[in-house]
Amino acid sequence: MAVTGTRPDRTDEGGGDDEHGGERDGERGVGSGREGLRTVAGRAVRASGAALAELVGGLGTAVPALALLLLLAVAAVTAPLGAGLLLAAPLLRALHALAGRERERLGRHGPEVVAPDPAPPVRLRLALADPTTRRELHWLARHGTVGLLLGLAGFLLPLSAVRDTAFPLYWRFMPMDMTATSFGYGVAHSWAEAFAVCAFGIGSTAVILGLTPGMARLQADPGRRLLAAGPDQDLSLRVAELTATRAAALDAHATELRRIERALHDGTQNRLVSVTVLLGAARRQVARDPSRADEILERAQSAAEQALAELRTVSRSILPPVLDDRGLAGALSGLAADCPVPCRIDVDAPERCAASAEATAYFVVAEALTNVAKHSGARSVTVAVRARGGRLRLTVADDGRGGAEEAGGSGLTGIRRRIAAHDGTLRLASPPGGPTTLEVDLPSGS
Ligand SMILES: Nc1ncnc2c1ncn2[C@@H]1O[C@H](COP(=O)(O)OP(=O)(O)O)[C@@H](O)[C@H]1O
Ligand SMILES: [Mg+2]
Repeated sequence: MAVTGTRPDRTDEGGGDDEHGGERDGERGVGSGREGLRTVAGRAVRASGAALAELVGGLGTAVPALALLLLLAVAAVTAPLGAGLLLAAPLLRALHALAGRERERLGRHGPEVVAPDPAPPVRLRLALADPTTRRELHWLARHGTVGLLLGLAGFLLPLSAVRDTAFPLYWRFMPMDMTATSFGYGVAHSWAEAFAVCAFGIGSTAVILGLTPGMARLQADPGRRLLAAGPDQDLSLRVAELTATRAAALDAHATELRRIERALHDGTQNRLVSVTVLLGAARRQVARDPSRADEILERAQSAAEQALAELRTVSRSILPPVLDDRGLAGALSGLAADCPVPCRIDVDAPERCAASAEATAYFVVAEALTNVAKHSGARSVTVAVRARGGRLRLTVADDGRGGAEEAGGSGLTGIRRRIAAHDGTLRLASPPGGPTTLEVDLPSGS
């Protein structure tokens, strides 16, 4: 078994705040104004940092957007010669793929940008009449030009601000013509001028802090408006899909409650009833026969211990504490170690996932490995987990006899319900004779 990849440790931000809580309370009387200023400044720096990251990240789609824009122009010019027509389908495919990447990127920085349904066409005649393609072309023109410039500004502005602010540290060592400010105003000949450049750098830092959130919004705006389903799009399919997954979520919830209720009723409650009966019997025996009473008390104690153990099992099955203690990779390694069939785990999860997504992944792998042990006759099984781009993808593959069917039991149906409740998908490939592969894709909620 090999566990590769890492998952960043959970950082408990709440805990960190608590640690300094006392100190802050002490200061509150004297320096609450200073504290407030510091919080505001901290918030501005964080917002500006996030906006800069978003702007620079936007270059990842803006540079290909400009290239695609130029290629489309070449195709349009050469269309009468026929060459442009040949290029149309691959370029349209590239346009849809790039628009998809931008939707994913925007979804990471804010609310999800829901792709229009159905997928846009790649045949030129259909594409020219297709509103989605027209909106994507409109976006391409905006993002490949204005978006690209904003991204470049987001990349260069902080560099020039740092260069100018640190100017007094190095201006003496620079050749004369390189001692101008980043924006080329004036040349420093004296210390006073060098500090003026530094002041200019501090000023541009303040401007960056103030402007970048707006710039990031401006860069994202065409994508958010033009790549989402437009008002002319039929969203009824998506609404129907969400209604179904909502029903599945409620159903999965009710099933889970019923399971917990049964486990408490049949297990823990029964044991506690016998504890009370045994205690009653012990009380009656105390005066008459103390040694018999002691025997009954011992039985009552063991029944109480069993009730406790069952209660612990039930609470663990609600949200396995191992996920909190060891993270997804550690929890899955635990499952693999308990699996009687040799199991290889490969976890690549640099992004932190929501607790509910991790719990779903855990229960899916637990059920899949139980099935492999119970039904497959496999010699080995591999579990692969990838958490990237806001999606959590899981694959469980065994080399057993195959023939897995949802209709054959309740485990796979339960998995499908759980996944549907997360708006994810499940694919099961298990031809008779094997192998069996179970693929799951869900939003990681990160
Ligand atoms: N990995 C597997 N290899 C072969 N058969 C499988 C596998 N997983 C499931 N099955 C078959 O599919 C049926 C349905 O599985 P499941 O819904 O988990 O029900 P259960 O495990 O409760 O029988 C099983 O009864 C079994 O026959
Ligand atoms: Mg099963």
